[in-house]
Amino acid sequence: MIIFVYACDLKGAIGKDGDLPWRQSTDLQHFKRITLGGTIVMGRKTWDSLPGKLPGRRSIVMSRTPREDIEVMSYQEIKDLAAEQDIYIIGGGEIYRLFIEDVKELYRTIIQTEIQDADTFAPDIEDLGFHIIGERVVEAGDKDQYNMVFQHFIR
Ligand SMILES: NC(=O)c1ccc[n+]([C@@H]2O[C@H](COP(=O)([O-])OP(=O)(O)OC[C@H]3O[C@@H](n4cnc5c(N)ncnc54)[C@H](OP(=O)(O)O)[C@@H]3O)[C@@H](O)[C@H]2O)c1
Repeated sequence: MIIFVYACDLKGAIGKDGDLPWRQSTDLQHFKRITLGGTIVMGRKTWDSLPGKLPGRRSIVMSRTPREDIEVMSYQEIKDLAAEQDIYIIGGGEIYRLFIEDVKELYRTIIQTEIQDADTFAPDIEDLGFHIIGERVVEAGDKDQYNMVFQHFIR
């Protein structure tokens, strides 16, 4: 099954200048709890924004250029794998758009801010048949810039 995990601001922004536009340690811990032990799929630009493979997870990158340093798969190969196991799609904007018809479960964190000059956005999930099954408001801790809301949807 295909599962999305992302954090966006109040207008759906997820990225700016090739990176996350906030520092939210509590959301990174939440992301880790969801994905640990699983298989994560990301676009090449998101891969470039990371320091390397995230520990304890199988990392698959989507790119149109073959490469030796990381496992690369096509859209169809990922869909075939998702028929056998859970696949966590972790971004970025291009890859969320690619799988928007296939996603069955979604973890969204709303970061309580509006980022100026953001350049990457999550797809609009209104009217796509998602139902919220969990929501939790979390105040910013010492290592967070903003308050946040953890949401969990199924389709
Ligand atoms: N807030 C969040 O939750 C979150 C999560 C993840 C990322 N982000 C942010 O999002 C931004 C990056 O997103 P992005 O949309 O610019 O890029 P992206 O989705 O991470 O990667 C785009 C790349 O994926 C590859 N690709 C796309 N479609 C493909 C297909 N059909 N087949 C094979 N490869 C394909 C291409 O790689 P090649 O060019 O190598 O061919 C393309 O350049 C960054 O700012 C990042 O920090 C935010």
